[in-house]
Amino acid sequence: MQEFVVTPWEVKGEIDYDKLIEKFGTKRIDDDLIQRIAKHTGELHLMLRRKIFYSHRSLNWILRKYEEGEKFVLYTGRGPSGNTHLGHLMPWIFTKYLQEKFKAKLLFQLTDDEKFLFKERLSLEDTRRYAYENALDVIALGFDPKLTEIFIDTEYIKTLYKIALKVAKKITFSTARAVFGFENSTNIGSIFFTSIQAAPAFLETERQGRAIPCLIPCAIDQDPHFRVARDVAPLLKYPKPALIHCKFFPSLAGKDKMSASEEETSIYTTDEPEMVKRKVMNAFTGGQATIKEQREKGGNPGVCSVFQYLFYFFEEEDMKIKRRELACRNGAILCGECKQYLAEKILRFLEQHQEKREKARDRIEEFIVRD
Ligand code: TRP
Repeated sequence: MQEFVVTPWEVKGEIDYDKLIEKFGTKRIDDDLIQRIAKHTGELHLMLRRKIFYSHRSLNWILRKYEEGEKFVLYTGRGPSGNTHLGHLMPWIFTKYLQEKFKAKLLFQLTDDEKFLFKERLSLEDTRRYAYENALDVIALGFDPKLTEIFIDTEYIKTLYKIALKVAKKITFSTARAVFGFENSTNIGSIFFTSIQAAPAFLETERQGRAIPCLIPCAIDQDPHFRVARDVAPLLKYPKPALIHCKFFPSLAGKDKMSASEEETSIYTTDEPEMVKRKVMNAFTGGQATIKEQREKGGNPGVCSVFQYLFYFFEEEDMKIKRRELACRNGAILCGECKQYLAEKILRFLEQHQEKREKARDRIEEFIVRD
């Protein structure tokens, strides 16, 4: 099998999520931990039930603190390199669930600086524009404005900079190179950047002048940043941030992570109905070459992007997803039917999302914080 790659800047190949846990040194979210979460949340989010959020660091500690009466802040973010697609929404939707259930404050970082530094083609104006567009999607998900602060790095740098400096002073070049794979040709802004992404994890502790636990929901590719942040935290008398990691939302092409450049194999939050239908109809499935064969041998939902979309996002009911999986394997259902079903689900979701997204334009100042 082809070797896979997972770094904060590149995800490719067929990802072995179990191997990643080993490689990164994180912990699996086991059934005991899921039950411990359920004690506080009541219902379990689909992404926990289906092990889409599947790995963590120090989640037990965060829960223990919470059980002792100490609240945590949530921190997550987005690198504004383009428009938002469904894959980006996934961890944010889960973060919204956590905010609601734990009444937690959320810090949301938009790293316009990062995408400027790492993407040759993007100017600071581009990344700032995308940051504001992406913020609309965040707001549309229904975060509580009283509990949510969204900031764009270049507009909040005065607040972040002192923390970033303290962090940067504790990270050597050789650590950064080993963790992120930098080379001599890497621009020096990129080398410093991880300290900017670490800063919000310590912001609430700085503000309040006492240790405030922080929980970071993110896709597993972001773990390297926070592994370094956790290493330096004790040196700076900050609590180590806890993490809860998700897998990558599947691409309609059938590979594992969507990248913003794969326009035809990702659904963007701004896509028109016709585009959505076209993309879904062209999606990679686990079907056979002919209807006859499909009826005889059945399909393979394990490799089917349409099934994955339903599993990760659009089919809420566990019974229904189980039934569909069986019907596919038995050849009782054809790819065309699943595509139709998925397209309708996506269209219904997008119709509502786009309405909220437009309304968010007038609400943006309720959420954004600046220096
Ligand atoms: N680097 C992330 C990206 O490229 C954005 C980000 C900043 C982030 N802070 C974060 C993601 C905290 C998760 C958690 O998308």
